[in-house]
Amino acid sequence: MSKEKLTTHDIRERKGSREKICAVTAYDCTFARLVDRAGVDLILVGDSVANTLLGLESTVPVTLEQMIHHSAAVMRAAPRALVVTDMPFGSVQEGPQAAVSQAVRVFKESGVDAVKIEGGKSMAPVIHAVVEAGIPVMGHVGLMPQYRSMLGGLKVQGKELEAARQILSDATAVAEAGCFSIVLEAVPRALARLITGRVRVPTIGIGAGADCDGQILVLHDVLGFTEKRIRFTKQWADLAVETVAAVSAYRKEVLEGSFPGEEHSFHMDESVLEKL
Ligand code: KIV
Repeated sequence: MSKEKLTTHDIRERKGSREKICAVTAYDCTFARLVDRAGVDLILVGDSVANTLLGLESTVPVTLEQMIHHSAAVMRAAPRALVVTDMPFGSVQEGPQAAVSQAVRVFKESGVDAVKIEGGKSMAPVIHAVVEAGIPVMGHVGLMPQYRSMLGGLKVQGKELEAARQILSDATAVAEAGCFSIVLEAVPRALARLITGRVRVPTIGIGAGADCDGQILVLHDVLGFTEKRIRFTKQWADLAVETVAAVSAYRKEVLEGSFPGEEHSFHMDESVLEKL
């Protein structure tokens, strides 16, 4: 694994490569440092911060300021991975000009390497304008959580002919608009395989099967912090259990007086106290 900072060009060059792209979300410097050290290629500061850190049900209320705040923290701690920030709902819906201003703010104020924009064919002019302004864009089609009301909830997309045709046309349009990669979320494996074969840029799947050029997951699912079981994720650790155990052990020692011990205390020449 090279120590060099990855660029959007490196990600793009992985199209069709045997070396899959491995991406994960992070929202703060502690976890950004750890996932960077683990060697992921790309860190997404997802608007899933709504669910993972902010206790919100939906990603819709997340603001540009919140994305900038979390993205800047991630940037400070991720020297190697490419860092991408989600443009939150409302920041790109008012057309290309307004979207460029919002993307420029994120790019300048957080220092991230690229932004991600959810949306298909209708978002292509916005994506084109942001790329033309000099900001790399990652696309996101299939299940787009920002549009959950329009899509009938958070469920698999593209099983029927019309829906599959729409997702293929969305992916093609955002690739043509200049995206350097595209997230494909919650689509059948066969459709993801077909799209991956048809678009010129890497596809990064989440719930899209093994044939994409890469995979992305929400870190809190990977680490076992998420209570709701999601079919397309996998948990590699149970840090919720470990966190409760560690904090319970701390509480127990505080209550019984065994923490802090002498080794955790500062000492002084106590004769000084006689002069007080
Ligand atoms: O916000 C997010 O975490 C995402 C990933 C699920 C791709 O968009």
